[in-house]
Amino acid sequence: MVAPVTVQGLDQAPTPHTRLLAWVREVAALTRPERVVWCDGSEREWRAMTDELVASGALVRLAARPNSFWARTDPSDVARVEERTFICSADPADAGPTNNWMAPEEMKRRMTELYDGCMRGRTMYVIPFCMGPLTADSPMFGVELTDSPYVVASMRIMTRMGTSVLEKMGADASFVPCLHSVGAPLEPGAETEDTAWPCSETKYISHFPETREIWSYGSGYGGNSLLGKKCYSLRIASVIGRDEGWLAEHMLILKLTSPEGVVKYIAAAFPSACGKTNLAMLEPTIPGWKVETLGDDIAWMRFGEDGRLYAVNPEFGLFGVAPGTDWKTNPNAMRTLARGNSIFTNVALTDDGDIWWEGMGEPPAHLTDWRGADWTPESGELSSHPNSRFCTPISQCPILAPEYEDPRGVPIDAILFGGRRKTTVPLVAEARDWAHGVYLGATLSSETTAAAVGKVGVVRRDPMAMLPFIGYHAGDYFAHWIDMGKKADVTKLPRIFYVNWFRRASVEGEGDGHFLWPGFGENSRVLKWVVERIEGTAAAVDTPIGSVPAPGALDVAGLDLSAEDLAAALRVDPDEWRAELPQIQAWFEQFGEKLPGVLWAELDALRARLGVA
Ligand code: GDP
Ligand code: PGA
Ligand code: MN
Ligand code: MN
Repeated sequence: MVAPVTVQGLDQAPTPHTRLLAWVREVAALTRPERVVWCDGSEREWRAMTDELVASGALVRLAARPNSFWARTDPSDVARVEERTFICSADPADAGPTNNWMAPEEMKRRMTELYDGCMRGRTMYVIPFCMGPLTADSPMFGVELTDSPYVVASMRIMTRMGTSVLEKMGADASFVPCLHSVGAPLEPGAETEDTAWPCSETKYISHFPETREIWSYGSGYGGNSLLGKKCYSLRIASVIGRDEGWLAEHMLILKLTSPEGVVKYIAAAFPSACGKTNLAMLEPTIPGWKVETLGDDIAWMRFGEDGRLYAVNPEFGLFGVAPGTDWKTNPNAMRTLARGNSIFTNVALTDDGDIWWEGMGEPPAHLTDWRGADWTPESGELSSHPNSRFCTPISQCPILAPEYEDPRGVPIDAILFGGRRKTTVPLVAEARDWAHGVYLGATLSSETTAAAVGKVGVVRRDPMAMLPFIGYHAGDYFAHWIDMGKKADVTKLPRIFYVNWFRRASVEGEGDGHFLWPGFGENSRVLKWVVERIEGTAAAVDTPIGSVPAPGALDVAGLDLSAEDLAAALRVDPDEWRAELPQIQAWFEQFGEKLPGVLWAELDALRARLGVA
């Protein structure tokens, strides 16, 4: 039963937006917080919020970094929960075989029960936010209601939020309502928490695509709780994009300038923890080449009047995998973090108030690990969770491209699809055309990582790196990609490439030796080949799966790499590819008649090229 509410703060709403007010009132009546706070996004608010989080023990202020904080989650709340993520479309066929589905009424009934009184003893924060520049023709608004001050602080880094957004929304702008609770009400009389990271064993990350709503319960982890990110900008936005003729994709965006001053914009889709943030901030090892960052996780892409595909990064911050980030691998991330104003979650704390994680040089003699325990190099355990993250303003990135704030975005010249495969997939291959490129994306495979709860290292199909993020039927999604290619002159479409930084030298058939390709800054060599393919100056050899660099075409000058490793990195082994065919067949079959015929035709053509009847 919903009791009449007198909640402190409810009547001091700084907006005339009647639908927003009604919704806030309705949620407060259901969840029964102690007070409601309208977030203004100010510096003062950030200070108050972080001070409060430090006082409660949820954050530790880092002595060694300006305005930066260390957070530890509950050990059970460390990653996205794909098993608990639902697409609640009216018709189950609209969720498709790759999503969990529940009827919207049933999900709302269940979650309403969970939300009933779930904010007791807590503050409910109202976070008005905008994905993409506020100066866009139709700004993409959202409002998140949450009982987590950690979410408020993180949303301030990751999105444009606060008073400027609320003002721009005026009295009737449409917005995506995003409801979040950690699902841990404070018992009556409880003055303090018994944990610094409240959450619930019961978790739901639910999306209602028809009504464009998001309901999240039970988790405080970024991917489950910062609802502007995966939930809005990928799952809900992919549905909006389907309806309106654009694409919401799990892609980084970078600007590449050649020594001759030729500029290309490249988007790349890799699954979570497969190299987007690193490639987006890459420091080229080849002389004269320059990379500037536009985005590291999400791209919204639509055709411009000139017939080219333009990409915008809807986010305002970077939420990057910490382990492996280092001055050697990703110096621009280190520079970004050195400017402070960041939250580090589930990394290790040094004795002098700095952070440390695996891959960041020599380990200190003593640390406090991500579980809060003493750690020494002899502990034999990871000091940081493999999915530990830094959350930092993108404006601090020293190589941020000036086009970042342009609401029109940048015209994409090339799209890379990539995954993490120990075997089979070569360093780089070029698609024959758009349909073949869509086929490569639709059959993309990768080993699972710690970014989602579950077993790590299992090869699965992850189409366009969007498996956990497509908000509708994957077959319809592939058809949408094929249709997009028909909207423009083929000469203006981005060229599509397939990459794999993670192939390994085989160890007695185990395929788990060293990485064949040095990766990181050296990936600039692959980008150079991509640009030269677009310009028509680089040589390639045709293989059954696409064109790979001809001998000598990939610039390896000055690279310490054996000829065997280079050849092994580039090799297309027909036997390995023939072994993939039954899996691809089975993958496609589950989409039934929704799978575009052109993709079946692409599979048939691949079979023929591999000499399989
Ligand atoms: P994202 O989650 O897709 O943004 O991936 P990240 O860029 O954060 O990288 C995920 C993990 O892969 C990190 O531990 C990186 O150090 C590692 N990584 C990124 N790029 C490369 C690469 O080119 N080669 C290798 N071997 N590892 C990489
Ligand atoms: P990632 O982003 O792609 O940088 O890992 C977070 C996620 O996808 O969970
Ligand atoms: Mn991601
Ligand atoms: Mn990333």
